[in-house]
Amino acid sequence: MGAASRQLLPAVEKRADIRITAICDPLAAVRESMAARYGARPVADLESLLARDDVDAVYIATPTDLHAAQVVAAANAGKHVLCEKPMATTLDEAQAMIDAADRAGVVFNVGHSHSYDEPYRAMRELIASGELGRARLMHNLYYSDWVYRPRRPEELDEHLGGGITFRQGAHQFDILRLLGGGLVKSVRAQTFDWDPQRPVIGAHSVFLTFEDGTVATAIYNGYGAFMSSEITYDAGEVGYPQTVAPGSTRAALKAATAESEAQLKVKRAGTPAEAQLAPNQPFFGWTIVSCEGGDIRQSATGLYVYTERGREERPLRLDRTTRDPVIEEFVDTIAGSRRALHDGRWARANLEVCVATIESGRTGREIALAHQVAVPRGT
Ligand SMILES: NC(=O)c1ccc[n+]([C@@H]2O[C@H](COP(=O)([O-])OP(=O)(O)OC[C@H]3O[C@@H](n4cnc5c(N)ncnc54)[C@H](O)[C@@H]3O)[C@@H](O)[C@H]2O)c1
Repeated sequence: MGAASRQLLPAVEKRADIRITAICDPLAAVRESMAARYGARPVADLESLLARDDVDAVYIATPTDLHAAQVVAAANAGKHVLCEKPMATTLDEAQAMIDAADRAGVVFNVGHSHSYDEPYRAMRELIASGELGRARLMHNLYYSDWVYRPRRPEELDEHLGGGITFRQGAHQFDILRLLGGGLVKSVRAQTFDWDPQRPVIGAHSVFLTFEDGTVATAIYNGYGAFMSSEITYDAGEVGYPQTVAPGSTRAALKAATAESEAQLKVKRAGTPAEAQLAPNQPFFGWTIVSCEGGDIRQSATGLYVYTERGREERPLRLDRTTRDPVIEEFVDTIAGSRRALHDGRWARANLEVCVATIESGRTGREIALAHQVAVPRGT
């Protein structure tokens, strides 16, 4: 019941077909207050939650290093599972999670991740329609203050799923794999951890080659000086105006001790997510796709399409939060009315790119991938 959960809850609350029956968090004050809000049962440990008959499905948004064991336990208890990204920290863990869900015959989806967002889905649709010809190169570039936001110690340790490659690369690779059709052949990357006070990967530059020859770059700098919202109409990750001044997050953290940082993290997570619809489309940084017949990028509320006829703006719907499609996909998959894009295998392929990025950064080698899956037809 931390930061990720608070962002998902508005999308859950609005559904008449979902009832929140139990809430589990080791922080008593957090579970008690949230359970009271929903008329749910507060439980202190996952085992007690999984033993309940009034729990059909579980959303797991715990620290990343806990996901694997918890997803396996939930699947073994016969519960459908929605797990936050990144799904795990190693490919072996990812395999164990997929196997457990398959064995139990339960749905296992992973999200929210930003390929659910309207602009990237619309870009994918446009590419797949063939209107602009073959996609050849694409870029996603994001400059944020990720490194200096209040963090738990695990978030600053790669072995526990910390750092920007696992946490933010997971979104970039998810978006670029959707746009490029899913099948990444190889990865070459450089990672950076240039602040000894925050010794974790804080920036990376990643070059992806797809099976069909399309290439993509994912650039991330989480050190919070320049913020790329400056070039995305001041809009942030879920479409609200981004109000953090350049450099200010790092400056604010200087006054914090380890203890006060942990408290700030819990406090920040407790800020209620904005349930109103955002005025802009979500921007996971700045994205551009070049096809043989033209280029595509985001406008503030839709897409710009550039061809020999000039620039055309295509508006997109603004009537959903970034989390609505996550819940819709989860419910539809459980009902059997559609096949999920964001299943365990899709998430494992995203994780494989994260792991390859870190390995390539360490060894300087290009890494061949073996667990990629294609975007299903019609997505
Ligand atoms: N989709 C997104 O955009 C997004 C955004 C933020 C975080 N995340 C992901 O969500 C996960 C959590 O990150 P966060 O920033 O919300 O962290 P957080 O620290 O804000 O929340 C984690 C919560 O898990 C609780 N917890 C710890 N151990 C537990 C246990 N054994 N059982 C049950 N609960 C336990 C903590 O008390 C805390 O309330 C990470 O995997 C992260 O990558 C995703």
